[in-house]
Amino acid sequence: MSVEKLFSLTELNKPADWTNLTGMAKKHVPIIEAPSKVKANEPFVVKIKIGGIDGVEHPNTLSHWINWVTLYAGERLISRVEFGSELSDKYVVTLNVTLNQTATLRAQEFCNLHGVWEGKTKKVTVE
Ligand SMILES: [Fe+2]
Repeated sequence: MSVEKLFSLTELNKPADWTNLTGMAKKHVPIIEAPSKVKANEPFVVKIKIGGIDGVEHPNTLSHWINWVTLYAGERLISRVEFGSELSDKYVVTLNVTLNQTATLRAQEFCNLHGVWEGKTKKVTVE
């Protein structure tokens, strides 16, 4: 019997099947909320919620917490937010973002015990 690989510390963790997420994925994957269409060079809000899928929240203790989350437009870094342990509330980040061309947003987070996780991308069309 094979043992399911729950996470990797050396490779990007990214769910392959969103209809059958593991508990590990439900508490680690960053979810991006952003408008589908924006105006060029006008700021809009991007919200990133880490974990909490189906109510499965990630722990936030001195020994196990989300260390940071990054947001990219394609391969270009938009922002990186770092968290200390214990005090963040449910790992929700809101960022003001300005794009000058259509981009695919990507978010990654790093858990000190379970590595780097990426969720679904979000295409934002600049009109
Ligand atoms: Fe974790």
